[in-house]
Amino acid sequence: MDTLTAIRERKVLRSFAPRPVDPALLRQIVDAGRHAMSARNRQPWQFIVIRDAERLRTIGALCTTGKFVSDAPSAIVVLKDTTNTRWADIDCAQAVQNMATAAWSLGLGTCWVGNFDGAQIAQLLEVPEGWAVFTILPFGYPDSSHPPEARPLKPRAEVVHFERYGEKRES
Ligand SMILES: Cc1cc2nc3c(=O)[nH]c(=O)nc-3n(C[C@H](O)[C@H](O)[C@H](O)COP(=O)(O)O)c2cc1C
Repeated sequence: MDTLTAIRERKVLRSFAPRPVDPALLRQIVDAGRHAMSARNRQPWQFIVIRDAERLRTIGALCTTGKFVSDAPSAIVVLKDTTNTRWADIDCAQAVQNMATAAWSLGLGTCWVGNFDGAQIAQLLEVPEGWAVFTILPFGYPDSSHPPEARPLKPRAEVVHFERYGEKRES
């Protein structure tokens, strides 16, 4: 799938087919994250690839708004460098977006999990000092019995302007 199609068609997946994800695909997804832009090229991220079902269940139970992680066939936990705080959140978010787009282009989906017990997950994963859990991204194939919902996008005319705010005509 080409990049523009993946960006346009990607939707979050909160339900996954019970089908394992080839580690080679997860490797491509992680690499997409590694290639994200980062301020001063600090690359303030680490990625923990999880495929163990029991571990996924434990992490999912610690995700307040992402219990679906428990039933995903894989996940990538994104860690943020806490000693590099100026742009680290934005840098990590870019890595997440790259991984979500890459996954979609490979036929996989994910969902950002925003609320979780970071301290407990960090302890479980033996995360060293200086790093914090930024987010947990489950990865899997779409579940045909729960297809992803189309999001209501704000209309182009509402959010796009030309030359100055409020000008809607493209000259
Ligand atoms: C920073 C951020 C945090 C999010 N947190 C959650 C979350 O905790 N649980 C969840 O189910 N979805 C979460 N989402 C997914 C959004 O709800 C989803 O991206 C949005 O509804 C648009 O849907 P789409 O990505 O399919 O277009 C989060 C997305 C972002 C960018």
